[in-house]
Amino acid sequence: MKAFAVLSLKGGVGKTTVTLNLGAALGAAGRKVLLIDLDPQHDLTQSLGIDAFRIKGVEFLLEKDLKFEEVLHLYNENLHVLPAGKKLKKLELSLSNLFVKAKDSYFCTLLRNALEDKKDRYDYILIDCPPAGGFLTVNALTFAENVLIPVQCHYLGFESIKKTFSLISKIRRFNNPRVKAAAVIPVMHDARNKISGIIINRLKSAFNGTLSSSIIRINVSLAEAPAFGKTIFDYKPDSRGAEDFRQLAAEIMSRQG
Ligand SMILES: Nc1ncnc2c1ncn2[C@@H]1O[C@H](COP(=O)(O)OP(=O)(O)O)[C@@H](O)[C@H]1O
Ligand SMILES: [Mg+2]
Repeated sequence: MKAFAVLSLKGGVGKTTVTLNLGAALGAAGRKVLLIDLDPQHDLTQSLGIDAFRIKGVEFLLEKDLKFEEVLHLYNENLHVLPAGKKLKKLELSLSNLFVKAKDSYFCTLLRNALEDKKDRYDYILIDCPPAGGFLTVNALTFAENVLIPVQCHYLGFESIKKTFSLISKIRRFNNPRVKAAAVIPVMHDARNKISGIIINRLKSAFNGTLSSSIIRINVSLAEAPAFGKTIFDYKPDSRGAEDFRQLAAEIMSRQG
């Protein structure tokens, strides 16, 4: 089992789109995949057609009020989901305070403990993180050994990438010595736009070893699919978006064995 946290300390950069469609591509390639929605905005949950306001989500698993199977949704045979419910926000707020005060490792390992005897059922576990370094993100990075960092190709925002890297270093020092930045993934690339080329070149020189060779192009089908509660492979399997995520999945599978 390989676990990936999809993280950026900036919102709207493509985290949820990457988590969902990379997971779906790995599933379509025959791998067993678990997606976890750890963002209280529950976009991943809603994108799969699950009503976050009607379900009991991952927050009940973290609080040990429900069992794994009671929270799990099956999108298809290979793609399983631990959705976020409306109470995840409340849990984040209440535990964030305790977490800051207590500095107790117990609060960092809630996710790790909850998945301990389930993780071997899956080849890949992908976690959609909130755009902040709080209690939920710390739990994701304490569990996962790999971090995927999506970077938009139309805005030069190196500051937030640096912050994301320093958060990973901090967690490596204090919580999880195995966690590392596995790949910086360029997303929303637009070949008609000069800025996309400029950003790719800057990323190449800054993150040589970690930059993925797969690039996710801007593709309207990727933005439309969530409105139908579908992954790109069920919505428009012949789109450029589907093609790009198939390629990214192939790269991740070959890198990770
Ligand atoms: N490659 C892409 N092409 C077109 N639209 C995209 C692409 N990636 C993401 N989007 C859209 O951009 C918005 C932000 O993406 P999202 O994945 O929700 O970001 P985040 O999870 O980081 O907040 C969403 O409306 C999404 O549908
Ligand atoms: Mg999101």
